[in-house]
Amino acid sequence: MHDKSANQERIDSGLTRRAFIGRTLLSGGALLVGGTNVILAADASTSPNMASNPTFTLGGDLTVNRLGFGAMRITGQGIWGWPPDRQNALKVLRRAVDLGVNLIDTADAYGPDTSELLIAEALYPYPKGLVIATKGGLTRPGPGDWVPNGRPEHLKQAVEGILKRLRLERIDLYQLHRPDPKVPLEESVGALKEIKDAGKIRHVGLSNVNPDEIARARKIVPIVSVQNRYNIEDRKSENVLAYCEKESIGFLPWFPVGGTGGLKPENPLNAAAKAHGASVYQVALAWLLERSPVMLPIPGTSSPAHLEENVAAAKLELTPQEWKAINAIAS
Ligand SMILES: NC(=O)c1ccc[n+]([C@@H]2O[C@H](COP(=O)([O-])OP(=O)(O)OC[C@H]3O[C@@H](n4cnc5c(N)ncnc54)[C@H](OP(=O)(O)O)[C@@H]3O)[C@@H](O)[C@H]2O)c1
Repeated sequence: MHDKSANQERIDSGLTRRAFIGRTLLSGGALLVGGTNVILAADASTSPNMASNPTFTLGGDLTVNRLGFGAMRITGQGIWGWPPDRQNALKVLRRAVDLGVNLIDTADAYGPDTSELLIAEALYPYPKGLVIATKGGLTRPGPGDWVPNGRPEHLKQAVEGILKRLRLERIDLYQLHRPDPKVPLEESVGALKEIKDAGKIRHVGLSNVNPDEIARARKIVPIVSVQNRYNIEDRKSENVLAYCEKESIGFLPWFPVGGTGGLKPENPLNAAAKAHGASVYQVALAWLLERSPVMLPIPGTSSPAHLEENVAAAKLELTPQEWKAINAIAS
């Protein structure tokens, strides 16, 4: 199935590895990386889990490719204001869609507002099948400051702003950014149900919650996704992932490649990454995709090169023995 000699020839003919990964993903071809035994292939098996579950269907009707994009990093410093290079942010968003990403995560709090405005500027009118998952329930008094507001009137007002900024009549997935300790969860989720019943949102998701909170919310409205912090170095939400897997709820791990500080330099994945000419970020993303069929990583970047690399991770093919070894390290 892999035409290794033709691919190697193209690499030898001077195409850089990164440019080749991008073109390969677009054309659906296959790539032999640097003569080693890692193959990035758009049409072949990747991890066993990705091979059998390359997509996930949110809420029974929104099918997305499991590797998404997080649009928090396209704003200014401190997730505040406009990015220093606006054209670059637009380019990253358009390139993500070109590469096959059809799940973009954002929030009214990113900027605030600027992430959603940039998404609309870059991508409206939206291509068929693109799912924009946004969030409400956190306010931004200043750079680096995040203050919950889960009051029903705030959540309702937030939706109106989101619809305008994203130029939508209905939001595909609206997630409660985090429960507000000052407001009973049932009141916040009750507001989301009302907004859904009014036809302004299609599906409801939660973020930064525990299994008990998910169960309480589900008594009020169907919950199709949960977004919690989770990566190979931080698995505190393992019980939430298990709950989501059991109930077929999408799980969007935030900080999938370690967040602001990135992954530790001494990461146990280094050896595997090095041995195969892949980056440690790619192995970390491939591990997430392998970890569960409900896993929908949303790596964030403002760098076109990192974006190419992250999307290519969905095609990383390691042997069953290698997956086993990585799992042993990670558990
Ligand atoms: N629900 C919540 O409370 C919550 C909280 C945080 C985030 N989120 C969501 O989750 C998404 C992902 O989180 P995140 O962006 O904070 O963390 P992340 O995806 O784990 O990491 C992003 C950081 O890693 C760097 N990076 C990304 N790909 C890389 C690569 N291939 N090589 C080297 N460095 C790379 C980025 O820098 P460069 O820009 O230089 O690439 C950035 O500093 C966000 O965009 C947002 O949508 C949700």
